[in-house]
Amino acid sequence: MKPSLFLILFPVAVLADVVSYNERNVVPWEPKNSTSVDQSVINNGYYYLSDRTNSVVHVVNIASGALAADIKGFAGLNLVNGKADPGTSGPNGLIVLPDRNELYVGDGDGSVKVVDLRNNTVVASIHTGAAYRADEFAYDVNRQLITVTNPEEIIPLVTIISVANRTVLGNITFPDATNGVEQPAWNPIDGYVYVSVPETKTNPGGEIDVVDIENFKLIKVLQQPNCNSHGIVFGPYQQLLLGCSQDSIFTYGTAHIAIMDVSTGTVAATINGIAGADQVTYDPTTNFYYVSAYQNTANGTKQGLPDPVLGIIDAASYTLVQTIPTDNITAHSVAVDPKTNTLVVPLAKSGITFYDIGYSTNSPGTGTSGAGRAQPLHLFLIAVATFAAIMNL
Ligand SMILES: *[C@@H]1O[C@H](CO)[C@@H](O)[C@H](O)[C@H]1NC(C)=O
Ligand SMILES: *[C@@H]1O[C@H](CO)[C@@H](O)[C@H](O)[C@H]1NC(C)=O
Ligand SMILES: *[C@@H]1O[C@H](CO)[C@@H](O)[C@H](O)[C@H]1NC(C)=O
Ligand SMILES: *[C@@H]1O[C@H](CO)[C@@H](O)[C@H](O)[C@H]1NC(C)=O
Ligand SMILES: *[C@@H]1O[C@H](CO)[C@@H](O)[C@H](O)[C@H]1NC(C)=O
Ligand SMILES: *[C@@H]1O[C@H](CO)[C@@H](O)[C@H](O)[C@H]1NC(C)=O
Repeated sequence: MKPSLFLILFPVAVLADVVSYNERNVVPWEPKNSTSVDQSVINNGYYYLSDRTNSVVHVVNIASGALAADIKGFAGLNLVNGKADPGTSGPNGLIVLPDRNELYVGDGDGSVKVVDLRNNTVVASIHTGAAYRADEFAYDVNRQLITVTNPEEIIPLVTIISVANRTVLGNITFPDATNGVEQPAWNPIDGYVYVSVPETKTNPGGEIDVVDIENFKLIKVLQQPNCNSHGIVFGPYQQLLLGCSQDSIFTYGTAHIAIMDVSTGTVAATINGIAGADQVTYDPTTNFYYVSAYQNTANGTKQGLPDPVLGIIDAASYTLVQTIPTDNITAHSVAVDPKTNTLVVPLAKSGITFYDIGYSTNSPGTGTSGAGRAQPLHLFLIAVATFAAIMNL
């Protein structure tokens, strides 16, 4: 998406101290309360969430906040000795291919399911060749190539698929990785895919591997600041937000989120006091990152009490502008709509929860914290930003 007119006309930093997301509505779980979900994504007014417990991808209409469909045909939650086995369960990671009106979903048997979004039906199953699950995705829209991770193999890898003929073209392995591979992200500026590798023999604190998916080659390795990243996402100016996981709290006693400048490989900023992340996302309209810090701890130590939050970070000032209490079960998923700025987090106790950007009354007890008071001018600017995004200015 191109930057909105708003971002050019108004410095986004003015929003930083006034933004406040407030709960709007909840879509209760069905048919049964979920204990295991995976990624979520928003496209064209609809929210999609992988729900392993119910073996479906839920489709929710963002404007009405109502369940529109459940996409069926996945492995479901596989239990081994009564415990969830992520390596053989699905649906897992997912991605929308807007130009093709398709959703690609990683499944528990190592296949990738292709969903036609006109009728929310699985129309193809592409086997990656892996023994365990297919997981997270990046989409190179220029070359029409999908990158999908196979994190559970003895040597983890990413598989490259042509979306035109739905065939596997090849793979790239990560023999140095000691704890799987996580989110890949496509960089339209250099055409490479950036892979979150949480832990390697060379870099126990994690690295970002830059790969050429056309020639199945590793281009370079960028070392992380003890972070053990799970989710990663590109923000503005060739910056990549690294969602540092609970491993960085437990192994290094560091609780931070990092922002890496990928053109130099240097760390542009670390945001302290928040970690334990899984999925992360970015909204170019608000210029905020959204971090599902579901395994955050209250004082940033291993002994600290669980303090699961959704963190909102200003990409311009590198500050944590709001935290919303969540849970340590299903709230490792986050999505945001760049048109309406609606934020969506699945909560185990209640269901799929929608938050809208708006007034901050600055009063405690609203279930949110860290937000300042909204001024009429700021609300006007948010309205202009939303209007500009909707009109695609
Ligand atoms: C789901 O959880 C809610 C809230 O805890 C509870 O009221 C409801 O009965 C549960 N539903 C099912 C199907 O277990
Ligand atoms: C969904 O659409 C695809 C492509 O147009 C078609 O092949 C498939 O039969 C449709 N499925 C259903 C259940 O309508
Ligand atoms: C990865 O590609 C190689 C060929 O380059 C192939 O031999 C191997 O089976 C592939 N791995 C998987 C898990 O499909
Ligand atoms: C599928 O398309 C890719 C280009 O995206 C091409 O390189 C490959 O040879 C095609 N494979 C088959 C089986 O047609
Ligand atoms: C963090 O919190 C835990 C639990 O309250 C406590 O035991 C521990 O001493 C605290 N650590 C620090 C460094 O404050
Ligand atoms: C999740 O949080 C609850 C408290 O809400 C705690 O009792 C439980 O131990 C936590 N689970 C994990 C795996 O951290």
